[in-house]
Amino acid sequence: MQEILAKLDSMRAAARLGGGEKRIASQHAKGKLTARERIDLFLDEGSFEEFDMFVQHRCNDFGMEDQKVPGDGVVTGHGTVNGRLVFVFSQDFTVFGGSLSEAHAEKICKIMDQALKVGAPVIGLNDSGGARIQEGVASLGGYAEVFQRNVNASGVIPQISLIMGPCAGGAVYSPAMTDFIFMVKDSSYMFVTGPDVVKTVTHEVVTAEELGGAVTHSSKSGVADMAFENDVEALLQLRRFIDFLPASNREKAPERPCTDPIDRDDLSLDTLVPENPNKPYDMKELILKTVDEGDFFELQPDYAKNIIIGFGRMNGTTVGIVANQPMVLAGCLDIDSSKKAARFVRFCDAFEIPILTLVDVPGFMPGTSQEYNGIIKHGAKLLFAYAEATVPKVTVITRKAYGGAYDVMASKHLRGDINYAWPSSEIAVMGPKGAVEIIFRSDIGDAAKIEARTEEYRQKFANPFVAASRGYIDDVIMPHGTRRRVIKALSMLKNKQLQNPWRKHDNIPL
Ligand code: HXC
Repeated sequence: MQEILAKLDSMRAAARLGGGEKRIASQHAKGKLTARERIDLFLDEGSFEEFDMFVQHRCNDFGMEDQKVPGDGVVTGHGTVNGRLVFVFSQDFTVFGGSLSEAHAEKICKIMDQALKVGAPVIGLNDSGGARIQEGVASLGGYAEVFQRNVNASGVIPQISLIMGPCAGGAVYSPAMTDFIFMVKDSSYMFVTGPDVVKTVTHEVVTAEELGGAVTHSSKSGVADMAFENDVEALLQLRRFIDFLPASNREKAPERPCTDPIDRDDLSLDTLVPENPNKPYDMKELILKTVDEGDFFELQPDYAKNIIIGFGRMNGTTVGIVANQPMVLAGCLDIDSSKKAARFVRFCDAFEIPILTLVDVPGFMPGTSQEYNGIIKHGAKLLFAYAEATVPKVTVITRKAYGGAYDVMASKHLRGDINYAWPSSEIAVMGPKGAVEIIFRSDIGDAAKIEARTEEYRQKFANPFVAASRGYIDDVIMPHGTRRRVIKALSMLKNKQLQNPWRKHDNIPL
C-alpha cells in the first residue's frame, strides 16, 4: 500500500511541475505567475479541489506520444472566493505553451458542465498559444465544444475571462462570449490575426501590444473591461469583482452587511450641478457619494468615457449603475457608449441585478461618422436593452434629459419603476437655444426676440415640472437625499415581478 501511496504522491508532484522547472523560471522571468500560483492567489486558501490532474493528450503524431504531461496544460477544478463557490480553469503555458488539445478542452468542458448544473460562475485564466498544432482538427473540435458551452451558459451563470498571456486566432472567441474580459498589461494580448499576418495582408507594421494588448482593448476596441498592472493585481481585483455577482440566474446577488447609514445625506450634492447648463461636472462624484462606502467597481473606465458603467451596493445589495458623464462629449450617447451600456444592462437583467440610471444626456451624437457607422442600430441596442429589462429600474435625472436620449435612459415609458429628477433637471425635446432656433426661425436676425423666446422656452421646459405634472417623474428630489431615496425605492422594488411575453428569443438589433 505504501508503495501505491508513494506512487500517487510522485504522480501528483509530476503534474504540479507542469512543463518543468526551466519553463516555470521562464514564465516567472516574463513577470507571469504559473497556472497553479494564479489559482492559489485567486481562490480562498486551501479551497481548491482539482479535477483531472492525470488527464493526458491522445496525440501520437510528431513525436507527441513521448511527450505526455499529466494535466495536459490546464489546471481545472472548483474552490471558493470569500466562501462562495466558483469553477476555474487556468491554462499552463509551461506545457506546450498552454495550447488547447482535445483532452485539454474536455477538462474545460467538464467544469463548465458542472458549473452549469450547480449554478456557479466559471472563471477562465487564459494563457495559451491557441490550438494544439500537432492535433489539428481534434483541437478545433475542442474549441467548438467550449464555444457551445459558453453560449449555453450565457445568462445562466456568470462567465469571466482573465487574459494573462497569449490569446490569438479563433481562441479569442471563447473569452469574447463570456460576460467580462479582464487583461494584464504588457503580458497579455488578444487578436484574431497576429502582427506577422497583419503585415503580410495589409502591410501595416504593428507590435503585438499595439495590436491587441491590454491598453488597446481597454481603451480603443472596448473588447476588455479592465486592464490591470500585473497578475497579482488582476487576480485580487477579480476576487473583489466576484463579490458583486450572483452565483447564477437562480440566485440573487450576495448581500453584504452595510455600515454606511442608509439615510446619509450629502449636502455637497446640492452644488454638484453648475449654474451654467453648459458647464460639465463629474458624474462619478455622485456615484461615489451615493453607493455604500463609496465602493464602486467601474467597468471599461477608459473606453467610451461619456458613459459610466459598473457595480456598487445600496444598503448591502448589488446594483448595476449606468450614468452619463457630462465631462466627456457632454455626456451624449454615441455608438460606443450605447453598445457599452447596452451589454451591461443586459447582464444586469439576466442576473436579476437592479439598475440605477443617472441621467445627464443632451442627446445622441450627431455627424456623418456616427451615421455611417450605424448609430441608428447601435443606439437602438441601448433602447432595446432598457426596454426589455424586467429588473428593478430606478432613474435619477440630474440635469439634461433631451430628446430620444431621454426616452432611452430608463425613462418611465420604458417601464422605469421609480423616476426621480433633481430640481436642476431639464426634460425636453432639446435645449432651449436649439429649440428656439427651429420653432422661431424667422426671428433669428433679432437677437432680443430670440433671447426672450429662449427664456420663455427655458421657463416652460428646462425644468422637471412639466414631466412631473404628467407623472413621468415620480418626484423631484433634493440632491442631498439621493442615497436615501434610491435605497427606499430599491427596497420597495425588492420583490418586483414582471415578465415579457413568451418567445423563443428576442431580436435585439445586433
Ligand atoms: C503546440 C505550442 C503552441 C501550439 C506554443 N507552443 N504554441 N505547441 N501548439 N499552438 C509551444 C512551443 O512549441 C514551445 O514549446 C512552448 O509552447 C512555448 O512557446 P514559445 O514559442 O517558445 O513561446 P513564446 O516565444 O512566448 O511565444 C508564444 C507564442 C508562440 C506567441 C504563443 O508560441 C506562437 O506563436 N505559437 C503558435 C500560435 C498559433 O499559431 N497557434 C495556433 C493559432 S490558430 P517548448 O517545448 O519549446 O517549450 C488557433 C485556432 C483556434 O488557435 C481556432 C478555434 C476555432
